[in-house]
Amino acid sequence: MRKRTVALYAGMGVLISVLTFMLMPAYSQEDIVTLQDSAFKDAQRPPAVFAHEDHNEKAEIEECNVCHHIYEGGKWVEDESSEGQGCSDCHNVEEGHPTRPLMKAYHDLCKQCHLDNDKGPITCGECHPKQ
Ligand code: HEC
Ligand code: HEC
Ligand code: HEC
Ligand code: HEC
Repeated sequence: MRKRTVALYAGMGVLISVLTFMLMPAYSQEDIVTLQDSAFKDAQRPPAVFAHEDHNEKAEIEECNVCHHIYEGGKWVEDESSEGQGCSDCHNVEEGHPTRPLMKAYHDLCKQCHLDNDKGPITCGECHPKQ
């Protein structure tokens, strides 16, 4: 009786691990240490430094949708997040779309907050260090 219960729990443990593994996204935010968006066909600069988890902890950013935002009618929506989507899903590399182009989107988001906080890099070489 007791042996069977143990076996049952062990079995459930394996099942839960397998399910967790299957549900894990291919890339999780913990893995990100630099950004090089593949939407830019020929990268002009080295990848940008951005250790996703560490950065957001140090910068004390609590809400994901500060960056993974949703806009409706030109307004930021407080309770919604686009964390499953890449920036390039909404911001095109080329100009001429209603949303600002991708490079400007990155630069505006990253640099503006660093300027506002008087903390964090604001020069090209600090964000795109030579490899
Ligand atoms: C606060 C950080 C930050 C600063 C400062 C910054 N960049 Fe970027 N830049 C990024 C991020 C993030 C991306 C998107 C990731 C990528 O693909 O490199 C990007 C993308 C780019 C791209 C398009 C991708 C590529 O490599 O072709 C270019 C070009 C670029 N930056 C040039 C510059 C130049 C020139 C400056 C200085 C005037 C500069 N950046 C300053 C963070 C920064
Ligand atoms: C300071 C801005 C910022 C904050 C805050 C932030 N992220 Fe991200 N995150 C990014 C950027 C930039 C990328 C790369 C996007 C791309 O490649 O298009 C990214 C990528 C991701 C990815 C992987 C790629 C994808 O689009 O699926 C996940 C998952 C993710 N973030 C989840 C989160 C979660 C969950 C939070 C809140 C706990 C969060 N992020 C907070 C900037 C941020
Ligand atoms: C679901 C679509 C969507 C996604 C994903 C998305 N954006 Fe946006 N973003 C918009 C729309 C729509 C606007 C409003 C039009 C504009 O100002 O370009 C906007 C506005 C912005 C702005 C201007 C914010 C302000 O204060 O005025 C920046 C900067 C920006 N996005 C950067 C990014 C970056 C970087 C990412 C990836 C982390 C990202 N966006 C992901 C749709 C999106
Ligand atoms: C909402 C505000 C905010 C946004 C958006 C933001 N940062 Fe920062 N960042 C900070 C603050 C605050 C610091 C200083 C953290 C500290 O050391 O106290 C920082 C520091 C950094 C540093 C220094 C090293 C580190 O990880 O602390 C890098 C590199 C950096 N940011 C890159 C980026 C890039 C690239 C983006 C855009 C994808 C970005 N940041 C978007 C607030 C922000």
